[in-house]
Amino acid sequence: MKVISRRGDLLLRHMEDTVEDYEMMHRWLNKSHVLAAYSYHPSSIEEVMEKYKKRIKGENHVIPSFILYKGKEIGYIQFYPVTDEYGLRDKQILNRYHKPFAADIFIGEEDMQGKGLAPETLMMLQDYLFSEKDCDAVLIDPDIDNLRGLRAYEKAGFRRLTEFTRSGSDRMTVLMINERKNDMKGLIFKRRSIRKYIDKPIEKEKIERIVRAAQLAPSAMAVFPWEIVVTTDREKMKKVADVSPYGKFAKDAGAVFIMCGDLSHYKEGRGKDFWVQDCSAAIENILLQIVEEGLGGVWLGVYPIEERCNDLRKIFNIPEDIIPLGTIVCGYSDEENVAKDRFFPEKVHYEEY
Ligand SMILES: Cc1cc2nc3c(=O)[nH]c(=O)nc-3n(C[C@H](O)[C@H](O)[C@H](O)COP(=O)(O)O)c2cc1C
Repeated sequence: MKVISRRGDLLLRHMEDTVEDYEMMHRWLNKSHVLAAYSYHPSSIEEVMEKYKKRIKGENHVIPSFILYKGKEIGYIQFYPVTDEYGLRDKQILNRYHKPFAADIFIGEEDMQGKGLAPETLMMLQDYLFSEKDCDAVLIDPDIDNLRGLRAYEKAGFRRLTEFTRSGSDRMTVLMINERKNDMKGLIFKRRSIRKYIDKPIEKEKIERIVRAAQLAPSAMAVFPWEIVVTTDREKMKKVADVSPYGKFAKDAGAVFIMCGDLSHYKEGRGKDFWVQDCSAAIENILLQIVEEGLGGVWLGVYPIEERCNDLRKIFNIPEDIIPLGTIVCGYSDEENVAKDRFFPEKVHYEEY
């Protein structure tokens, strides 16, 4: 089995040149609910074979694949780089994209419909195309009366671009697009904790951009309660390494940031407890900017452990009424921030818990 991508209980695999795969495809393509949206109706398995074999063998630019849910085939998705064959008369529309792909999908098993698996599969495919195939936009073109499809694709993040009929066809379709988002998406998807650093100083400009990024974080009632202590001093970083039992690697860092909260900004009793959220958001901004700068970093927990707060106060001469919330350790590293996938669909509750 040649796996393309997997996420939770879903898996995408290449369609194979086997009787089983052709039979499955033939069965699905003759189901009324598939026909309603897919409008290709092969009369025999041989016809299916004739059409899909070329794709499977790579003699056609369309890549056919099967969607598996909990290990069982439930539907089909194909994807391909958009070429002139796509049949869009107004080619200007796609000019700004450098490598758009198109996709077609159906859930073949009726009892698997309506479970959100089509949008979930599309999102999985998109992430694969964006990260592995240098793709910057994915297109899908449901018939204008395919309301189920339109809803599912919007759920997967697609937006309507235009309506068109392909050259050589009289079907009115809606062209929908999902673009690769700006770099921020890339950063979030790439960030991971990096705890090993090489001996290379971090440029001042990078450090400045990192503390700027920190202060772009949202803040309840716009209080901006953060105070950030920065060090690149080896001796001080060695002392930071002794503050936490799980932060020994700080001794080799290129820079250390201590994110603190100044509670004196808050009027009596109003919103005081929001400082942790504000400063945590600022820490996440720091971690993302660290990735953007080509560095690796990790968050070390400080508050509410009194002892760690006091140790840091001593090292950096931090006043009593300023609370160190967390330490961010970073540096150049041989380890890369690489794309990872961590998604627990069961932790997401749409509309109701
Ligand atoms: C509040 C907080 C405290 C943390 N403290 C430590 C720590 O003391 N030492 C450490 O190595 N990592 C620490 N981490 C990093 C987590 O271990 C890490 O984020 C988690 O394992 C997930 O891995 P990832 O960051 O690569 O996605 C901390 C993270 C948070 C949010």
